[in-house]
Amino acid sequence: MSSGPDIDRLIDELKTLSAISEAEPPIVTRVVFGEADMRARAYVKQLCVDAGLVVSEDAIGNTFARWQGTEPNLPPIGTGSHIDAIPNAGLYDGCVGVLGGLEAIRVLQHLGFKPRRSIELVIFTSEEPTRFGIGCLGSRMMASVLSPAQARALRDKEGRNLDELRAAAGFGGTLESIAMPEGRFHQFVELHIEQGPLLEQEKIDVGIVTHIAAPASMRVLIEGEGGHAGARLMPGRKDALAAGAELILALESAAKGTGAIDTVGTVGVCDVFPDAVNSIPSRVRLETDIRDIDGTRRDQVLAALQAKCNEVASRRGVAIATELVNADPPAASDAAIVAALEESARAAGKSYKKMVSRAYHDSLFIARIAPVAMLFIPCRGGVSHRPDEYASPEWIGSGVHVLARTLAALAS
Ligand code: GLV
Ligand code: MN
Ligand code: MN
Repeated sequence: MSSGPDIDRLIDELKTLSAISEAEPPIVTRVVFGEADMRARAYVKQLCVDAGLVVSEDAIGNTFARWQGTEPNLPPIGTGSHIDAIPNAGLYDGCVGVLGGLEAIRVLQHLGFKPRRSIELVIFTSEEPTRFGIGCLGSRMMASVLSPAQARALRDKEGRNLDELRAAAGFGGTLESIAMPEGRFHQFVELHIEQGPLLEQEKIDVGIVTHIAAPASMRVLIEGEGGHAGARLMPGRKDALAAGAELILALESAAKGTGAIDTVGTVGVCDVFPDAVNSIPSRVRLETDIRDIDGTRRDQVLAALQAKCNEVASRRGVAIATELVNADPPAASDAAIVAALEESARAAGKSYKKMVSRAYHDSLFIARIAPVAMLFIPCRGGVSHRPDEYASPEWIGSGVHVLARTLAALAS
């Protein structure tokens, strides 16, 4: 491949996209169906149109930008990722896979390559769980892992449901129409930053993902008894937050307690009612995130958290309800795509290692309906989900180069 990616243009586009944010630069916040998300979608769709791709959207806003192959009836090769961003995020998570995927297509176009299979760039809706509390909403529904009925029951913090929010965003059609049959994609390959430190530390150009870890999330609702923080004495209190604190520490110790470095447990949301300094918390909502590359071991941590909830509820006299938001199995990459990625890395003169993805990605769900694999590039210090997330132009260029070669091989 003599003509490589136009890195200056790609970095420019990544920066333009990052400026479309609900927060002041360099902070990127783009919650699904928010004003910034909608503007970001419009920007990326226009870039796709400019590249001659045919753009379509489904009922939840999953976006497909197709470069027609010479045999357009064959299932396409998919690539892509997401452009929504959690609050206080950076500019590379997801966006490198979308704009890098687009750049890979443009490289191939520039070289005069004619794909036999169409190549379809996918921008998945709401990979991040920020609005509805569940990640990979778009790909989950494409793969029928989340049913239309379950999706209809989703609410955001303000109580708005998915149907009203997607209608306001201009996405019509039924939720039933989102599901895709197995074989809709011939193969799917997602480019993403590693979100961990290994590639940078080991000075390796790209990572070829062999497995994606299994994520789970349990919501914990604690109902205690509120009251005056001064007048109500300590004996007999039913402080919902004190109960929650025990659960937070219990999750930490259960995750550490498996003895496996791959088990992680986090409480990322703690919503306290009435959230007043001189009032005993009467209600608390915890959102927990538990992951492991071993699904059984991950489930043991979930079970330990549930057992602790039961024990704390009866000892403290508070009511604790739990709701399993999701508990997804891990995914394994497809051997043929992994081989194509390895071959492409070698041909591009890039060093690579095979590795596990500890973060979840839309590929975890697309794996249910198509063979998938992922390509990682380094990110500085392994930092992600923060405004100081950074991937160098050189790292991004290597990823796009290997992706372009891989797409060419798969689409031939
Ligand atoms: C994805 O954003 C994740 O939290 O792994
Ligand atoms: Mn993310
Ligand atoms: Mn991501």
